[in-house]
Amino acid sequence: MSNVTVIGAQWGDEGKGKIIDWLANRADMVVRFQGGNNAGHTIVVGSATYKLSLLPSGVVQGKRSIIGNGVVVDPWSLLEEITKVGAAGLKVTPDILVLAENAVLVLPLHRELDALREEAASQKLGTTKRGIGPAYEDKVGRRALRAIDLKDPATLPGKIERLLAHHNVLRKGFGAAEVDAGALLKALNDVAPKIAPFLGSSWRELDALREEATSQKLGTTKRGIGPAYEDKVGRRAIRAIDLKDPATLPGKIERLLAHHNVLRKGFGAAEVDASALLKSLNEIAPRIAPFLGSSWRELDAARKAGKRVLFEGAQAVLLDIDHGTYPFVTSSNTVAGQAAAGAGVSPRAIGTVLGIVKSYTTRVGEGPFPTELKDATGEKLGERGHEFGTVTGRKRRCGWFDAVLVRQTCITGGVDGITLTKLDVLDGFEQIKVCTGYKLDGQVLDYLPADANLQARLTPIYETLEGWKETTQGARSWAQLPANAIKYVRRVEELIGAPVILLSTSPDRDDTIMVQDPFVSR
Ligand code: GDP
Ligand code: IMO
Ligand code: MG
Repeated sequence: MSNVTVIGAQWGDEGKGKIIDWLANRADMVVRFQGGNNAGHTIVVGSATYKLSLLPSGVVQGKRSIIGNGVVVDPWSLLEEITKVGAAGLKVTPDILVLAENAVLVLPLHRELDALREEAASQKLGTTKRGIGPAYEDKVGRRALRAIDLKDPATLPGKIERLLAHHNVLRKGFGAAEVDAGALLKALNDVAPKIAPFLGSSWRELDALREEATSQKLGTTKRGIGPAYEDKVGRRAIRAIDLKDPATLPGKIERLLAHHNVLRKGFGAAEVDASALLKSLNEIAPRIAPFLGSSWRELDAARKAGKRVLFEGAQAVLLDIDHGTYPFVTSSNTVAGQAAAGAGVSPRAIGTVLGIVKSYTTRVGEGPFPTELKDATGEKLGERGHEFGTVTGRKRRCGWFDAVLVRQTCITGGVDGITLTKLDVLDGFEQIKVCTGYKLDGQVLDYLPADANLQARLTPIYETLEGWKETTQGARSWAQLPANAIKYVRRVEELIGAPVILLSTSPDRDDTIMVQDPFVSR
């Protein structure tokens, strides 16, 4: 099987949608494997523009499209999107779209919790408020509803009951005393020098309490594994590296307990009404059911038939829950390896990994961004690149290309080669800067440190390249590129240690230069 996996290699919005749509022509099917409708992938074909959030970009070319099990799916939003693209002339029927039966559902209560938490937090994450984090938390917490549950109304009430047993009550509901922040801090500081394998006592306690209180037991080991993963996905977990930094530990503990000691009740929000939720799910079930399928079996059949599969990543490596700028990340793994787990194929089946990289850097939402430009140059990049969020309409933060970050994301993301997009946005800049390292307390770093405090204090070291006056917009061959633009591309390749496989010079599908066909094994 000759496959390709496309992932974002910065902080998202690198132009994945455009490239996936272009590559779809060479593929038999397109598979989303993580994320949800926090993604916004833009595809421009002539005068038509499509903005996709949940639908794989393969639908634009009418290719078989799979929403894999690793995606969290808001069923209402999916139906809205199908209707919206239908009005624009794209017919999305069960003949082309399959929704993995074991994909987790995003419910209104997830969106509400996402928004409530963002509004209540003094240290905001800047989420898209689509409920993605809370839905992944429930998945890891083994209480989520999955697409297949919509097909089985008889068991739905029981599953909703288990879900709400968490959402409507948490520690208070269990009758357990609140966790004492000071005592927890002390315990952590005691354990810090040893870097113990598990990092907090509250997780084990919560695991045991939940097992005792529920009639539908999961049979956990009561070692706190589930709750610890939930806190990881909930971006409130304490990580090994935090133990090295006692000064910031109280703040992190405060964030953790803000969830565990209060939830909906604590936020002053009304409880979710189980029967109303059941009713709306039952209403939607018959419309979702035709799309349900066993996507792993279909992918297995495709492998046996020698078909070409294109795995469509959403978000990007710097938003990855493990390798990104935690906690300012999304709740899924976005690296190429996730394509295997999120679609149900062998890790050997992901094929060539193509990292999508913008010729400069942007970021939406909060979090460290070493090369951010809060000046006229940053404004100019944003204006020329039309840098406004596809999903939330927020203005994207802009800055120069950071080669340190992309070198790192190529390694952690498993990238074989990149697509460099939006080269045209750099047209007309007299000088173009590229970050080649960071300064921190008099030292030079050639990587992004894992500690968020250090990330926020980095000063970029720049190399300055000469710009070009000519236009690259719409170029379809190397011959059409000015010499300095080629120099820029070559320097980027050198600095990141990965070759440019494709180059993009406008939003339009056809304005793409192919250096090498990623479907042909190297
Ligand atoms: P994605 O989330 O990675 O799919 O990217 P988005 O669609 O959110 O944002 C990328 C934006 O850049 C979209 O509006 C694209 O139409 C546009 N785009 C993609 N490639 C290019 C390019 O090479 N040049 C220019 N000027 N725009 C591009
Ligand atoms: P595509 O696929 C850019 C960012 C949000 C926020 C953080 C967490 O279009 O590249 P979440 O709602 O996921 O809990 O928000 O992640 N984010 C994205 N930024 N592009 C995306 O997707 C993003 N999806 C999430 O802005 O900072
Ligand atoms: Mg986007």
